[in-house]
Amino acid sequence: MNKRFAVILAAGKGTRMKSDLYKVLHPVCGKPMVQHIVDQLSKCSVEKTIAVVGHGAEMVKEQLGENIEYALQEEQLGTGHAVLQAEESLQGQEGKTVVLCGDTPLLTKETIEALIDEHEKKGAKATVLTASADDPTGYGRVIRNGDGSVEKIVEHKDASEEERLVQEINTGTYCFDNRTLFEALKYVNNDNVQGEYYLPDVIEILQKQGEVIAAYMTKDFNESMGINDRVALSRAEKAMRARINEKLMREGVTLIDPDQTYVSADAKIGKDTVIYPGTIIKGDVTIGEWCTIGPHTEIFNSTISNGTEIKQSVVHDSEVGQNVSIGPFSHLRPQTKLGNDVRVGNFVELKKMSMGNGSKASHLSYLGDAEVGEQVNVGCGSITVNYDGKKKYLTKIEDGAFIGCNSNLIAPVTVGKEAYIAAGSTITDDVPGEALAIARGRQTNKEGYVRKKK
Ligand code: UD1
Ligand code: CA
Repeated sequence: MNKRFAVILAAGKGTRMKSDLYKVLHPVCGKPMVQHIVDQLSKCSVEKTIAVVGHGAEMVKEQLGENIEYALQEEQLGTGHAVLQAEESLQGQEGKTVVLCGDTPLLTKETIEALIDEHEKKGAKATVLTASADDPTGYGRVIRNGDGSVEKIVEHKDASEEERLVQEINTGTYCFDNRTLFEALKYVNNDNVQGEYYLPDVIEILQKQGEVIAAYMTKDFNESMGINDRVALSRAEKAMRARINEKLMREGVTLIDPDQTYVSADAKIGKDTVIYPGTIIKGDVTIGEWCTIGPHTEIFNSTISNGTEIKQSVVHDSEVGQNVSIGPFSHLRPQTKLGNDVRVGNFVELKKMSMGNGSKASHLSYLGDAEVGEQVNVGCGSITVNYDGKKKYLTKIEDGAFIGCNSNLIAPVTVGKEAYIAAGSTITDDVPGEALAIARGRQTNKEGYVRKKK
């Protein structure tokens, strides 16, 4: 039996981020770095994944959930010490253990599998994933013997001038024979510039024992980018964005300017949808086919059906039907549900409400805590008065009703089927179906008023 295990190192504070948020929780394209790693790993048929947590342990656990195991590293004494915390859970197990860092969000499933394949092909006890860096500053360097085999890994801070010239870096991702790994970790000491127990020292230990050490070099340096500070974070964001956008375009989505289109890692967008610049799509978003989104639109945790157009608008936690037109300058707040062929226009704010097929609120309205039926017309400037300072109340507008401009609907209130509300009314009582409600002061004209004043 040859099982696969994984250990993700995620206990560090991330001092160089200068942040109150623990490093591995910093998002890249809307998803915490460490979640990217866990998601890629989950596609690699791994028996058991253990995240080593320490700083912000509770928050990291909450993020990653219960599908993986956790080991606590109380004091951050180095990456070698971190892996040792997983020993209890993996001790004596026969199989391979992949070790990854929680701060390499761009690493892909394909590369992890290629690393494991190389490890198996070479019959190695340890295989390190390496990359060629234009600027290797800060990374551990891979030092090779005359015959090209791996001799050891030297941390930047411990490296000699000559070693610092080496451009092949340690990505911090490895595949080990499980038992060999924990055996060798016992020999790692902290006799180095940082006074830490370095995981990469295992390589030299095994090499000296005459074990087979292999190295697999990634084709794309970006994949191995370790994020230690905000400058690297912005580079990772850019690289991830390019990757996400390229995938979308290959799947048939038109991006007018991919450099200015920000789509979260898990968003799903149908083919023939066109996305204009300045569009931000965050969290769990599904957009159908033949939609037009943007420019300058933010969509967060929402579902948008086919053929819908959204311009210069904000849509949060909402559900939008087919062939809907939203914007410019609309705001859909959480729990808004729009049917098909709905129109929501300029400066319309919707919250916790539903609107049936074919209904319209084209200009300057606030509709909150409301149930609006089908084919309803909400005139310009009409609002649901949903709040008395203490509680929120429901407004119901039934099918086919016509709400004249500048009406106040004081909730709780129901406007019946096909009823009319005269413009400028303040409606405090229910309106029966097919009725006309007029609730405003009568107009009086004072003839000759101006002349008399003179
Ligand atoms: C590490 C490697 C370096 C490699 C680089 C790749 C070591 C000693 N060095 O350096 O060779 O080029 O990654 O990005 O391994 N962590 C813990 N507990 C600890 C220390 C670290 O869980 O006690 C975690 C961190 O949260 C982080 C990961 O291990 O996710 C790597 O630690 P970090 O301090 O970022 O190592 P680097 O200096 O980047
Ligand atoms: Ca790092």
